Amino acid sequence: MLSPKYLKCLALLTTMLLASATSANQRERIDLTSDWRFYRYADSEIPDSLIYDNRPSTGQYNDSQAADTKPTDAVVTESGNNALKPWILPSGNNFLGASEKRYERPEGKPGSNFPFVQEGFDDSSWQKVDLPHDWAIAGPFYSGENPKVGGGMGRLPSHGVAWYRKQFSTGANDADNRIYLHIDGAMSYSMVWLNGNLVGGWPYGYSSYRLDLTPYLAKNGKNQLAIRLDNPPKSSRWYPGGGIYRNVWLEKTAQIHVSHWGTQIITPSVSADRATISIATTLVNHLSESSEVTLKQSIHEFTGQDLPGDSPVKELPEQKVKLSAGQQHKTTASTILDKPKLWGPAPYQTPNRYALVTSVIYKGKEIDQYITPFGIRKLTFNPDVGVLVNDQHIPLKGVNQHHDLGALGAAFNLRAARRQLELLQEMGVNAIRMAHNPPAPELLTLTDKMGILVLNESFDSWYKKKTPLDFHLIFADWHEQDLRALVRRDKNHPSVIMWYIGNEVGEQYTGQSGADIAQTLKAIVKDEDPTRPVTSSMNWAKADFPFSAAMDLISLNYQGEGIRQAAEFEGTERIRTPPSYPAFHEAHPDKVVLSSETASAFSSRGIYFFPVTKKESAPVRDGLGGNSKIHQVSSYELHAVDFGSSADKVFRYMETYPFVAGQFVWNGFDYLGEPTPYYAARSSYSGMIDLAGFKKDRFYLYQSEWRPDYPMAHILPHWNWPGREGEITPVHIFTSGDEAELFINGKSQGRKKKGDLEYRLRFDDVRYTPGTVEVIAYKDGKPWATDKVTTSGAPQGMKLQADRKTIDADGKDLSFITVDIVDENGVFVPDAVNEISFTLDGPGRIIATDNGDSTDFTSFASQKRHAFSGKLLVIVQSNRGEAGDITLSATNPELGTSTILLKSI
Ligand code: GAL
Repeated sequence: MLSPKYLKCLALLTTMLLASATSANQRERIDLTSDWRFYRYADSEIPDSLIYDNRPSTGQYNDSQAADTKPTDAVVTESGNNALKPWILPSGNNFLGASEKRYERPEGKPGSNFPFVQEGFDDSSWQKVDLPHDWAIAGPFYSGENPKVGGGMGRLPSHGVAWYRKQFSTGANDADNRIYLHIDGAMSYSMVWLNGNLVGGWPYGYSSYRLDLTPYLAKNGKNQLAIRLDNPPKSSRWYPGGGIYRNVWLEKTAQIHVSHWGTQIITPSVSADRATISIATTLVNHLSESSEVTLKQSIHEFTGQDLPGDSPVKELPEQKVKLSAGQQHKTTASTILDKPKLWGPAPYQTPNRYALVTSVIYKGKEIDQYITPFGIRKLTFNPDVGVLVNDQHIPLKGVNQHHDLGALGAAFNLRAARRQLELLQEMGVNAIRMAHNPPAPELLTLTDKMGILVLNESFDSWYKKKTPLDFHLIFADWHEQDLRALVRRDKNHPSVIMWYIGNEVGEQYTGQSGADIAQTLKAIVKDEDPTRPVTSSMNWAKADFPFSAAMDLISLNYQGEGIRQAAEFEGTERIRTPPSYPAFHEAHPDKVVLSSETASAFSSRGIYFFPVTKKESAPVRDGLGGNSKIHQVSSYELHAVDFGSSADKVFRYMETYPFVAGQFVWNGFDYLGEPTPYYAARSSYSGMIDLAGFKKDRFYLYQSEWRPDYPMAHILPHWNWPGREGEITPVHIFTSGDEAELFINGKSQGRKKKGDLEYRLRFDDVRYTPGTVEVIAYKDGKPWATDKVTTSGAPQGMKLQADRKTIDADGKDLSFITVDIVDENGVFVPDAVNEISFTLDGPGRIIATDNGDSTDFTSFASQKRHAFSGKLLVIVQSNRGEAGDITLSATNPELGTSTILLKSI
């Protein structure tokens, strides 16, 4: 039998042969991620002065301020004489609506004398790196008081100036081509030189952009790229990462081609029987004469996951298009597809996808082929129930996700991203909010394929700032380009259902003037995509504010459940708001209400503190869910940030107000930075899944509510409490059943039923005796699910388990290996902290280790690490082009050595 791997190679080979057979001018997209040279100025060095622009001085800034601190006014700074901004602004010209706003490129060749941009510069002593690359993730962490980078940004060296260099060749065939550089994301203020010429750049690190390299190509075909990044300190409320942290491509096209993100597919009417498909295609003509081309378009199903099928399900009539010299031209077409295979979210529907294949024929020859994946689905927004997809109501069971991938940092990796989504789907997630910035493009391909709805977001700040050097510095100059770039890039993804123009921005506080800015941003989005609602998250704006009125739908953060309502918060300067879902629903009866941030509940996996609060939801204080000496939070899952609510409380509100379209929990995975409530740490406490990808107890609480038909029961806490014999040690059960009986060492502790608006079963009077805790959960009176926790003996060994034992030998694929510390009987030891060393034999590398402990300052690159609450994670990556067996060994002097065998194929 032919292996899937072989078939994949064959498919790839066929595509390559086809491409070369048709025409030398055919569009070609070349992966430009390998073999770069990298140099970052040390903190002690003064970097070169090739700056984008002057920045205000930041002075003393405390990065541990509460997330809902009121944003403040910008500090006005004069532009510098030596700033390169005038050469960078024209890079965004295609993303400015009005042509009079476009920037002229000034004369001159700034930076051309600087050695790093020159072809002859010897960069052999620079570090060799492959992209995507995050220069900060290996650390070291900054520890202690007043660190250079504080807990807010993850205590990692993401700040500073750095350079990337790479050579590429062009051949005689390219003389008639246009050559573009695509950068999916570079953190931040990237500026690109080619052969000593400043080509352009893009400041916002989360935007994808492309530059036309054609005018600067070397005659001899030997081209030298040099890219300068300058990532400001004190510029983010979370870990931004540093570097070219997403993919980079070289794209060759004919002089006439489909323009950048130049297709738009809209499905204005959809039913099971037929769908209308409207297509807009923008072509660009770089020739110096006007030309006529034939446009051929056809619609194909996706046969496998990645390739559109060969035979079209629909061919559109050919169009003759006249293109003026040097101009863009937009054509439109419309067609009907019978019995369309609709795209819909999992698990309710199937995420079927189609591809539009666009061919441009010029003088009888196909000179461009452009593939646009899309989906056919009907979205309805009904203020009384929420979101409907293909006429089915889909309650939003969402999470917020930042862009980092834990121990891998910001460097995008397809497998790591997919693993996150798989775990979230296992929990019952059907929607994700991209907090608070455009995601990697591949992530949206994954959400399309896996059937996950997406709230796609642009900015965390506008004119008003949250941190001294955040996006507000460039908002005035770049908001339109960044917003159009986001919408133009992502508009054909069926998974994207809404656009977010901001998160908790300071302009909520500024009455009509803030609302006017919102309207301006909304108009920009609507100009690019009239089909989806546009909104911004509101933690402060009230129902009667002009800001709320400016939104297409009402997107609340925390205030739906009420903010700081407990008596202890009386008199605080911070936000205090009564539960506000009804007020918004009444004031805006024509708008859907949803919660784009709920909870912000905290816990450290496997850590439990006593006594346990009897409340449904409580803030974290010493002795009350928290311990500020060890910087950990109890996992009874009852504690939240001061302005937030426990999961249980949020569920109660969702059930009480069924018009609310659903919630996006803050947040799915723990992320680097923003370690509220303990800024001495490196990463957050608010995930349902920890930074290493291990499930916290909260995972099961959400699963019990979000997957009611999936039989499950989960016991907390663990049952290793030497010294607590005879003491009250509450046991809580999360189950999708409605009733449960608890047994300790076989003795029933009673059978309890969930009351109305209750989401857990609390056995709060249990006293600890070592042994076994068991639960039998029931649903409708019938046995439904069980769980068991056993007191373990001392650590004696390790169990290694891989999420995938076979990986691709492409130099990118990963295996995530979990190490569980076990006792002599193989029972998991939940409080084990043994230090384990890892070695690897075979064609692969250990690229990171982690344990999910927010306080662990061991470098993620370290091959030696302490277990946290009994667990560790090792991430192994394949070597490019080297297949074979990989053996990972884990060693500890007392526990011996355990191994696991992986295959790279
Ligand atoms: C919100 C904010 C998020 C995050 C969260 C933490 O106010 O929008 O970005 O900071 O609080 O609790």
